[in-house]
Amino acid sequence: MEKNRGTWSSRFGFLMAAVGSAVGLGNLWKFPYLAGENGGGAFVLVYIVLVVLLGFTLMLAEMTIGRRAQSDAYGSYHKIRKGWGFIGALGILAGFLILSYYSVVGGWVIKYIVASFTGTGADKAVYFESFIGAPVEPVIYHLIFMGLTAIIVIRGISGGIEKASKIVMPALFGLLLVVVFRSVTLDGASVGLEYYLRPDFSQITLKVVIAALGQVFFSLSLGMGIMVTYGSYLSSHEDMEKDAFIIPSLDSLVAILAGFAILPAVFAFGFKPTQGPGLMFVTLPAVFDHMPLGSLFSGLFFLLVFFAAISSSISLMEVTVSFGIDQFKWSRKKAVLIFTTLMFLIGIGASLSLGAWKGFQIPWIDGKAYGIFDFLDVTTSYYLLPLGGILCAVFIGFVWGIPAVVQEIKKGSAFRTEKFWTVLIKYVVPVLVFLILLSTTGLLEI
Ligand code: PHE
Ligand code: NA
Repeated sequence: MEKNRGTWSSRFGFLMAAVGSAVGLGNLWKFPYLAGENGGGAFVLVYIVLVVLLGFTLMLAEMTIGRRAQSDAYGSYHKIRKGWGFIGALGILAGFLILSYYSVVGGWVIKYIVASFTGTGADKAVYFESFIGAPVEPVIYHLIFMGLTAIIVIRGISGGIEKASKIVMPALFGLLLVVVFRSVTLDGASVGLEYYLRPDFSQITLKVVIAALGQVFFSLSLGMGIMVTYGSYLSSHEDMEKDAFIIPSLDSLVAILAGFAILPAVFAFGFKPTQGPGLMFVTLPAVFDHMPLGSLFSGLFFLLVFFAAISSSISLMEVTVSFGIDQFKWSRKKAVLIFTTLMFLIGIGASLSLGAWKGFQIPWIDGKAYGIFDFLDVTTSYYLLPLGGILCAVFIGFVWGIPAVVQEIKKGSAFRTEKFWTVLIKYVVPVLVFLILLSTTGLLEI
């Protein structure tokens, strides 16, 4: 893909790769537990508002930069204006840190494919906690996930993953609907449905807004130049405005369905909605226990979650690796091996921080201290990605300049939302994200 730059063989191929990067653990694992922790419907409402304001706007911005410059994340910014490549560099750092812990969770998913058939016992929470807290087993699964990602990226066979996505994504969607149906028809599900769907406005606090903002960036793969890279392979006939609408819509649809699959069951079985990262792994096995052919459905479901996760992890790895290839002139294989080793080691720390190393806490600028796993999550979702988003918006609005940007977008199609988009990207996105970022640090108190 790197040397002689091609374009996507079809519009569908591009959409599949972008949706493949976007739809992953963020939707299935993170969104439901963040909703559970942050007031249910209140979180969902704020999330949707932010996707509408930021998701479409930044998605279109990143794609346009890539299509114009036809280069990687760092190179594209640099090519349009010298000295601005650092925005891409920040994104590469974010991708590196995200994959270090994403792979740990990817490993949990592999474990749960296996556990679907070997059983998870009566107490799902105990099973999960003792698994992730163990010193060796989760590290081995993390190694497997990281290794598979590395092999795919070394062999440059992500094209195969794209093809697989054409089956996996619709299958995941279909199976998710089955699980949603089972979950919402459980006895006592209605309390969960109400919690998930009816926003309690008094619950919309700053903490909820901060969580939703980080999740928008994470889930849509925004703020780190992935969509710049993908956009760089787009032809000038592409209707990017439409793509920037479709990708966030599909991603949000999957996230919201995942919430429907999990939250009603949480209440039906009497689990705690606020338990955090274990929510999916504790709840779904209980749902599958209440289904005919439960093991089979469970195995298939976690397998599809695994595919969704791996298509996101290769996009994360690809960003880091192409940086090594371009900037250090490494071979692809060398770049993959070096970065994989580093991320694997950091990931070991992340995994141990949920068990043996629980006491090891890293102080952070918000005045709190975090274990390694949470530290990686917090620094990327709540700081690096939003910062990347602000910088992208400022770059578009004030450095490259709206007239030139609009001209690039209009090469491919009419630009129906030109006025709306201009106001959002120039003023609303940078100001809004900046205010939220400031309050995340604790410097601003609203
Ligand atoms: N968007 C992916 C998910 O939801 C994760 C991801 C984040 C991928 C950032 C690439 C970049 O799982
Ligand atoms: Na996502």
